[in-house]
Amino acid sequence: MSKTKKQIPDETAATGSPGGATPGSPGGGSARGTGVSRRRLLGTAGAAGATGLVLGAGGGAAGYAATRPEETAALTTVGSTEAMFHGKHQPGITTPLQARGHLVAFDLAAGAGRKEAAALLRRWSAVAKELMAGRPAAGGPDGPGHDTGIALDAGPSALTVTFGFGRTFFARTGLTARLPAALDPLPAFSADALDAERSNGDLWVQVGADDALVAFHALRALQKEAAGTARVRWQMNGFNRTPGATARPMTARNLMGQIDGTGNPKPADEDFDRRVFVPASPGKPQEWMEGGSYAVVRRIRMLLDDWEKLPVERQERVIGRRKADGAPLSGGTETTEMDLDKAGPDGRLVIPDNAHARISSPEKNGGAAMLRRPFSYHDGIAEDGTPDAGLLFICWQADPFRGFVPVQRKLDRGDALSPFLRHEASGVFAVPGGAAEGEYVGQRLLES
Ligand code: HEM
Repeated sequence: MSKTKKQIPDETAATGSPGGATPGSPGGGSARGTGVSRRRLLGTAGAAGATGLVLGAGGGAAGYAATRPEETAALTTVGSTEAMFHGKHQPGITTPLQARGHLVAFDLAAGAGRKEAAALLRRWSAVAKELMAGRPAAGGPDGPGHDTGIALDAGPSALTVTFGFGRTFFARTGLTARLPAALDPLPAFSADALDAERSNGDLWVQVGADDALVAFHALRALQKEAAGTARVRWQMNGFNRTPGATARPMTARNLMGQIDGTGNPKPADEDFDRRVFVPASPGKPQEWMEGGSYAVVRRIRMLLDDWEKLPVERQERVIGRRKADGAPLSGGTETTEMDLDKAGPDGRLVIPDNAHARISSPEKNGGAAMLRRPFSYHDGIAEDGTPDAGLLFICWQADPFRGFVPVQRKLDRGDALSPFLRHEASGVFAVPGGAAEGEYVGQRLLES
């Protein structure tokens, strides 16, 4: 059966998408050549109602769809959207935000070294490639890859799987000569209340998909492949708005209700690659990181009971942007640049001195910038009786010491948002470039 799959190519190739084609910003990513943004398509379909979502008789995805009894039924664009496994960069960095996410860190098992780690990355890559294409996980009926059937009937649903290495991985695999300086431990921040057991880890996997069952299915398949080689150190589960839930494509909101992602660097920016991806460095120890990126992962609890007591006007002054539409308090619309010097009739800055968006802006940090691509989380009510909820903050940059660290240092000293946050866990991971056809992720490190 011939199927039309919606493919998400290398998102960094996207240009000209109104509002910027970054995760979490209006427009999402553009499909190369068509000028049609995937998220725009989804948003439009959503606005058109359920009937608008169907691509037509040929619109389903291969793989699971082919095993369904109702051969003529088509998947919606949500199900049929496919992200590419192979490419210059790994998927899940510039891919538009997905509705569901799992972050999992693994530690290598006792006795597992470089050889076992290489075999695991080879297996993981093979599984990720199959699942991202909407096919069942490969493997014999009783083997570790035996498909659980959880994602039967669904298409790829924009599934992405992203792999990274933590600092401790290098000593465990005898690869300390290849350890990049960018993986140096982060400095301590005064607001940190970090749980070591939910921080760091030898290996890190990020799973994102627009369908919860597809995401869980991938997670299980990856966990099973790891059995005997690596054990789960921690896992965090997150979510974002479902594609099509809004009448038009919009930047995501976080659990404080703010539009979050507006100020992100855009793939069309001339310095986007330099800020987000590691350049070539032939002959250097970190040569294997070309095309890769560093992920800083922070579990940031939101003290929602306190936050929600603030009147909206105060909430807006904490951020420096309007809650309803994300426009800067200095005026305009969401995409209008902040005027950080504008004063009101009382002579006071309209975007206050301690406003989060002012303190974190590249303008106030010597150009330091990062690509924020978070998931929200909610794990019920904590022991203190307040929501155990917040942001799985993930930011991507070519070097955390030129991105996250200087900005967080500054936020730590005087951000009006800090009293409403608690940083509970932290990790930094080297995420190598994408695997070329026939290669597995991390091969250039593990076979160097
Ligand atoms: C739960 C914690 C956080 C929340 C709720 C939050 C929320 C926001 C919001 C609402 C904005 C304005 C809209 C936008 O440009 O996206 C913003 C901007 C920004 N935030 Fe955060 N943020 C959090 C943590 C952090 C952390 C830990 C960092 C980095 C260390 C950070 C860095 C930035 C940057 C770089 C901008 C863009 C500034 C600009 O270019 O205008 N944020 N954040």
